[in-house]
Amino acid sequence: AHLWRGVIEEYRDWLPVTAETPVVTLREGGTPLVHSAWLSGLVHGDVWLKVEGDNPTGSFKDRGMTAAISVAVGEGAKAVVCASTGNTSASMTAYAARAGLTPIVLVPHGKIAAGKMAQAVMHGAEVIQVHGGFDECLQVSRGLAERYPVALVNSVNPVRLQGQKTASFELVDALGAAPDLHVLPVGNAGNISAYWLGFREYAEAGLAAHTPTLWGFQAAGAAPLVSGIPVPHPETVATAIRIGNPASWHLAVAARDESGGRIGSVTDEQILAAQRELAAREGVFVEPASAAGVAGLLAAAAAGEVEPGLTVTVTVTGHGLKDIDTALSGLFDHGGTLVDSVIEADVDAAAEAAG
Ligand code: F0G
Repeated sequence: AHLWRGVIEEYRDWLPVTAETPVVTLREGGTPLVHSAWLSGLVHGDVWLKVEGDNPTGSFKDRGMTAAISVAVGEGAKAVVCASTGNTSASMTAYAARAGLTPIVLVPHGKIAAGKMAQAVMHGAEVIQVHGGFDECLQVSRGLAERYPVALVNSVNPVRLQGQKTASFELVDALGAAPDLHVLPVGNAGNISAYWLGFREYAEAGLAAHTPTLWGFQAAGAAPLVSGIPVPHPETVATAIRIGNPASWHLAVAARDESGGRIGSVTDEQILAAQRELAAREGVFVEPASAAGVAGLLAAAAAGEVEPGLTVTVTVTGHGLKDIDTALSGLFDHGGTLVDSVIEADVDAAAEAAG
């Protein structure tokens, strides 16, 4: 049986590594591609979910981090720094721990999900909370890397995008062809840029006959790529994509335009509804930001904007367990009565409670 070896060993020839690069891996990638009967019915095509929450630290960030940390170690780094809305830091600290590097993490105070904070803390990071949002954290992170001997592993480090492009390879490898349309959430805009890179490289190498159209979706309160101007005070329940001035702005716009695609926005209500439906209908529990692509596809389908007969892939970027506070508060909002539903240990009472 073939044991998945992690994205560097699986796609070594496509990545900026040499035989001397020390491979720091948690066997990331190789994530499930799950067919969605529900979404397929709605778009009158074939819709597949790329479930990136199944990565070792629970998000797609691991693909870029195995590459960035391996290269950093190869270059002699002893410490690494990143700004994060939570998932990059969860991933970075895990890989740094494995490599014996000192991890320094900058996060927006009070605005990252508890599960992600727990990950960084458990992996032994110095977690620095900043007054401000992700954009301010990234400025500080860049400044530290300029002035001190610490390697920057945000997606402005091009090796990150190289690692993340392997998700496109996996889609084509699994389907036997490129999808017609690929849909995903957009925050700092690294991932959409990385997917486009991957799809293009496979097409140029003759491993795919075409490249897909890319549709990215931002949260309405943090949608600079839709308005065309930075958002000074981004706000959304989807904290992972609460970003007002994406670092990969130009790459994302190029990916959109070259693929004939679009970057749209979805409201927090649409995001939370899509998150809930995906969990309840398909058994796939993702964090709020991860549902932005599904929310966008649902809106487009409802507006009759999805041509019938397409093969559509949708990346769901991170695991639902990262942010249980939002999931549970949603329950209460919709009349769930977690406390009131306590019963005596009695079969009849349980039967009645179950309706
Ligand atoms: N989905 C999740 C779950 C994320 O954590 C992120 C980004 C995105 C989507 C957007 O990806 O930034 O490449 O456009 N999270 C970063 C972080 C910013 O710090 O964890 P992007």
